[in-house]
Amino acid sequence: MAVFMTLLNSQVGKIITTLLLLILLIAGGAGYFAWYNFKREVPIVYKSAEDHFKYGSINSGGLPFYIWEVLPDLFAEHLPGPGGYKSLGFIWEEGKEMPIGVSKSIVGFPRQGSTCALCHSTTYRKSPQDSPTVVLGAPTQSFDSIANIRFLAACGNDPKFTPDKIIPAIEAKHSLSWSDKLLYRHVIIPETQKKLMGLGMGFAWTNSRPDPGPGRIPSFNPVKFLNFRLPLDDTIDNVDDPAVWNERKRKGFDYHWDGLESSLTETIIMGALAAGTPTDNVPLKDLQRVEDFIRLIPPPDYPFEIDTVAAAQGKPIFDNNCAACHAFGGDRTGTVIPVEEVGTDDHRIKMWTQAAVDKYLALGDGKEWDFTQVQKQNGYISVALDGIWLRAPYLHNGSVPSLKDLLEVPENRTKVFYRGYDVYNPETVGFVSQGTQAESEGFKYDTSVDGNSNQGHLYGTELSSEEKQALVEYLKTL
Ligand code: HEC
Ligand code: HEC
Repeated sequence: MAVFMTLLNSQVGKIITTLLLLILLIAGGAGYFAWYNFKREVPIVYKSAEDHFKYGSINSGGLPFYIWEVLPDLFAEHLPGPGGYKSLGFIWEEGKEMPIGVSKSIVGFPRQGSTCALCHSTTYRKSPQDSPTVVLGAPTQSFDSIANIRFLAACGNDPKFTPDKIIPAIEAKHSLSWSDKLLYRHVIIPETQKKLMGLGMGFAWTNSRPDPGPGRIPSFNPVKFLNFRLPLDDTIDNVDDPAVWNERKRKGFDYHWDGLESSLTETIIMGALAAGTPTDNVPLKDLQRVEDFIRLIPPPDYPFEIDTVAAAQGKPIFDNNCAACHAFGGDRTGTVIPVEEVGTDDHRIKMWTQAAVDKYLALGDGKEWDFTQVQKQNGYISVALDGIWLRAPYLHNGSVPSLKDLLEVPENRTKVFYRGYDVYNPETVGFVSQGTQAESEGFKYDTSVDGNSNQGHLYGTELSSEEKQALVEYLKTL
């Protein structure tokens, strides 16, 4: 100790102490710098539950916000059409910083993410001249999730994805400090490029399967292959995005098209994980807010006139032919109907395996949340039909364009149609799915493609045409 004190008092000692202090300061400064630029969280809280559903972060860990913002300008050639992100089916309300379904959060730097509203909200128009009406909780019929992934991957693989191109594009919108620029140049842009290239490789298996197109996604194969690292198989799981409104009335139902979950809370956590939320950062309070919101969203009213006399005639027809499976309180409503009985396309069921169930059941072990009600079933849920008019095209794979079509025997149902055009057709009760506009804006859906079959669900097909008309009129009131 005495020796140390003498040293400290000496000139050499002073130099050593200064150096030590400097090193400590630099290390501390670097630590602070790293924390500030990569980990510092500045919460963005939305007062209204509606805005929270549309834009509130669920920690889904997407891209750096500023990079995400400039990609459509820099790489327009990789988009399916003009209009930036709108060409991928994002709904972008006038004057908003980002589309519905995209969150912005600050974790060090601004980050983009997905929200539940990306796949669970839609627009419709009563005529081509009409401005779009947004309905939250509705299945999107425009967002093309696979096209979005392919766009992002193409950007990452483009030789133009360089700091020299990206930084000036960001600076045209935001001011960056010199240290921001250094970080973007040397860390954030290269890391983002790696992530985007990885995204492309991660989803390469979709290239050998039919495209889902807008309003549909491959449902659980991404989780099986990417998160659980289960071996690739050749199953096809393109499904329609479902509605998530009125959830309070669905208490006791099974969830997902094949009933693979029985708890709403667990289904919502699954939704977040599928959107990219890491298992060690699940924002339970934010998700609870979403749950409270979707429990209460009412189904939308039919926006055209309803023939109330015909609808009244349709009610007993519904009660006799459909209610047991589809009315709230029906004996079989919200339960799984065996696929042999309902007879619809069985690809989606073959996709879901016991191995995937086991992985899910183990996923939340030791966490604040857990999956306890995941299961393998062999059929499709007989869903409640509230707001059914806006849930077109119908069935789990979205293979039947309109309610009128669903009441025809499969041989007489439409074989090729276009989905993704948001003008509504009150004649058929579904979206406009034929004709020039639907063809130019929509995705060609061919029912002869694997996974796209429109077979099965023969209920109501033997009714007379008057009875069918009355029944459809009644369905508009649900
Ligand atoms: C990328 C699109 C996408 C995102 C993002 C997404 N979902 Fe879903 N969601 C789906 C699809 C598709 C299904 C049906 C999957 C299946 O059964 O194959 C589904 C199923 C559901 C269901 C079950 C509906 C029913 O009646 O069976 C609920 C509830 C749900 N999602 C809520 C959420 C919530 C809450 C979030 C946000 C935390 C979310 N989802 C994020 C696409 C998405
Ligand atoms: C035995 C039970 C049962 C009966 C009876 C029944 N359905 Fe269904 N329905 C189902 C099942 C199961 C599905 C889901 C099938 C699928 O997605 O592959 C379904 C799906 C639907 C859908 C599509 C839902 C969506 O979100 O895309 C509509 C519309 C529908 N049924 C209407 C009717 C009508 C109208 C009747 C009476 C004429 C009827 N169903 C009778 C079991 C039934």
